[in-house]
Amino acid sequence: MTRHLIVKYRKQTLAIILVFWVFILVNRDGNSVVEEQTSSTIPKLSTIFHGKSSTEQTTVKPLSTDKDFNVFDHRCKIPRTDPFSSDVMSIFKTEKFKECTDEPDLVSVLYDGMQRQYIVHVHESVFADLFPDILKFSCVYYEVLRGANDSLTWRVGPLPFGQNWAVPRHIEGIVVECYELSNRSRILQRDAFSFIQYPDGRNEQQDVKRRRVLPSVIMLGIDSMSQMNFQRTMPLTAQFVRQLGWYEMLGYNKIGDNTLPNVMSLLTGLRSSQWRAQCNIHEPGCFDQFTYLWNHFQDAGYLTAYAEDTPSIDTFHYFTFGFIRKPVDFYLRPFIFMIQNTLNTVKHFGYEYCLGRRQSFRYVFNYCLQLVQRFVHESPKPIFGIFWSNGFSHNDFRGPTSVDRDFVSYLERYKEHGLFDKAVVVLFSDHGQRQGALMSLASSFLEERLPMLHIYLPPWYREQHPEFVQALDWNRRRLSSTFDLHLTLKHLLVLQGQSGLKFNSSCAKCQSLFEPLPVNRSCEDAAIPEHWCTCDSYVQVRISNVLIYWAKTIVYRINEYLASHNYAAKCVRLKLAKLLRAERKQIFDDDGNPVMSSQRIQTFRIKFVTRPNGGLFRATFQTDSQNHVMVQEEFITRLNSYRNESFCVSEHVAQKFCACFEANRTFSIDTINVNDPGTPC
Ligand SMILES: *[C@@H]1O[C@H](CO)[C@@H](O)[C@H](O)[C@H]1NC(C)=O
Ligand SMILES: *[C@@H]1O[C@H](CO)[C@@H](O)[C@H](O)[C@H]1NC(C)=O
Ligand SMILES: *[C@@H]1O[C@H](CO)[C@@H](O)[C@H](O)[C@H]1NC(C)=O
Ligand SMILES: *[C@@H]1O[C@H](CO)[C@@H](O)[C@H](O)[C@H]1NC(C)=O
Ligand SMILES: *[C@@H]1O[C@H](CO)[C@@H](O)[C@H](O)[C@H]1NC(C)=O
Repeated sequence: MTRHLIVKYRKQTLAIILVFWVFILVNRDGNSVVEEQTSSTIPKLSTIFHGKSSTEQTTVKPLSTDKDFNVFDHRCKIPRTDPFSSDVMSIFKTEKFKECTDEPDLVSVLYDGMQRQYIVHVHESVFADLFPDILKFSCVYYEVLRGANDSLTWRVGPLPFGQNWAVPRHIEGIVVECYELSNRSRILQRDAFSFIQYPDGRNEQQDVKRRRVLPSVIMLGIDSMSQMNFQRTMPLTAQFVRQLGWYEMLGYNKIGDNTLPNVMSLLTGLRSSQWRAQCNIHEPGCFDQFTYLWNHFQDAGYLTAYAEDTPSIDTFHYFTFGFIRKPVDFYLRPFIFMIQNTLNTVKHFGYEYCLGRRQSFRYVFNYCLQLVQRFVHESPKPIFGIFWSNGFSHNDFRGPTSVDRDFVSYLERYKEHGLFDKAVVVLFSDHGQRQGALMSLASSFLEERLPMLHIYLPPWYREQHPEFVQALDWNRRRLSSTFDLHLTLKHLLVLQGQSGLKFNSSCAKCQSLFEPLPVNRSCEDAAIPEHWCTCDSYVQVRISNVLIYWAKTIVYRINEYLASHNYAAKCVRLKLAKLLRAERKQIFDDDGNPVMSSQRIQTFRIKFVTRPNGGLFRATFQTDSQNHVMVQEEFITRLNSYRNESFCVSEHVAQKFCACFEANRTFSIDTINVNDPGTPC
């Protein structure tokens, strides 16, 4: 891309903008949007269920709609999607679990329950078998230490240790190195171990009392996992969470595009606009300013833990600086960051899959296992832990198939240690797949917007709170959102007289899932922005000139965004290559008849491709009676990967829009079929 071309683009774009604004003004009154009869699923279903006006539908269908809908309420109808439909199955395959090493462990770690200390054991017989040519070897360790903030991690060592070394209780993680005694540079094996250490100065009597009323809470998260993809790719785990005590929330809808907005809202209860207004997340220290769920639990006397498996893309460090203060009692980040930088890594499904001798998610699950062993099994205390894995699921929707068996065996081990007798467990995700193969299917809209959410209550808690059980059961088929999950977790504490936890004005109609949700709930009530709302029915409309001009307006808004955020010198000006499909939101009166909105505000969603980068986008926007287009940047989302096209910018919104000038790249427009007849938007 030369400077020459750029100038030309700008001129052309400007000319087009002028032309279509003129056109829109001239076309004031022209409602040239024509509805088209189609066989696409959503309009058809909506005709059946809302269509009192249609002649063959004289009675409203009864509420037993398990087959067709996840949610079938007054103001929310979320169609059910078959996880195993033939179009998905044609691109689906099971991936093999990839071992990171076939070498037996030279070093392993045990726990001495009496002394409450970890013991490091060296397997001398393994050494003899593995390295028969070596006479003597030695092992040393490095202690992993967190520095002044998340950006600083220290490695102290090498330090010697003896057989069955009792690890001092201040050490949170070590890297161990064994080498040939006569040749220090011949490393025989390197490994790493994290420790959940017994806290000093704990009031044990208090813990015993608290444990009678306060359930421990373990949250297990898998990034980018829709409820459909979970059933599809992790059948064994899905079967595990069908056992008694588990409740799957089928109407759980995400509230933002990617991980950060969804996880921030879950953890803080704030809307994106609220937490973004508080401070600039791209500046150090911003994330320290919020009150997270773990802070509330800590205040109530819980021990807290937080772990993620992929330091390069994790929630608080993806182009941001994480925390200055250590946010929880047990924080895996320094350890995982250090081992990613000192052990061999192997990429698979796009990210570090192996860190040293094991899969990266295993460090997270082992950390959880230790927490369960220490504080559920051996010495019960209330714990609140979030264990999040993104390495295997983020980029390839098939990736989770490879870890299903391993995942479920971790759940079985947690079970052996009594987790499911005592704790509330939440298996959840932030959103579904946002890019890649699934996005070209008819189900892509729902696939992206319906993350999985499974909530488990242990038997004693179900007995104490039968009303929670009833509510969860009822709420399985109601619309719910990230804000409700936030309140549900707080509800566990409110019960114990923790005041000041009730929700704030940020979402007046959001509520705990332990109370029944109203049947007339709308996305607005649940604080789900329109672009992410799965409740509405849309009907396909013919691509008319006015729609094409609207699409160009959206592309213009993209360029405008880039210019106003000073990216114009870095990013190519985009143009509309093709409008693939357009749909209009249907509005119904109380009797279920489709009507025109009273202010003539209409909502559309479109799918289009841009030049020269081949960006595939979906946008939701409104038009008024003057044909003005109202759109927010947040509601223009990218459906295909921008790979490294956006390497020159680091902000999320800019990344989905920006195709950087630099580097001689061939843009990928040819790889997208711009003649795609257009699966539903
Ligand atoms: C020491 O080990 C390194 C790495 O295995 C090897 O390259 C080197 O030749 C060895 N040196 C001696 C003196 O054996
Ligand atoms: C982390 O702490 C070090 C030492 O105090 C400081 O130099 C650095 O700027 C800090 N970085 C961030 C991102 O806070
Ligand atoms: C509610 O929000 C307001 C402003 O956002 C804040 O000042 C207040 O402290 C919050 N109250 C609670 C109980 O969190
Ligand atoms: C929803 O139902 C509740 C209770 O029946 C009622 O108070 C409320 O006004 C209804 N809301 C709407 C928007 O219809
Ligand atoms: C972008 O990725 C492609 C393919 O992986 C590579 O060939 C190219 O050098 C990368 N460009 C930049 C600017 O990183």
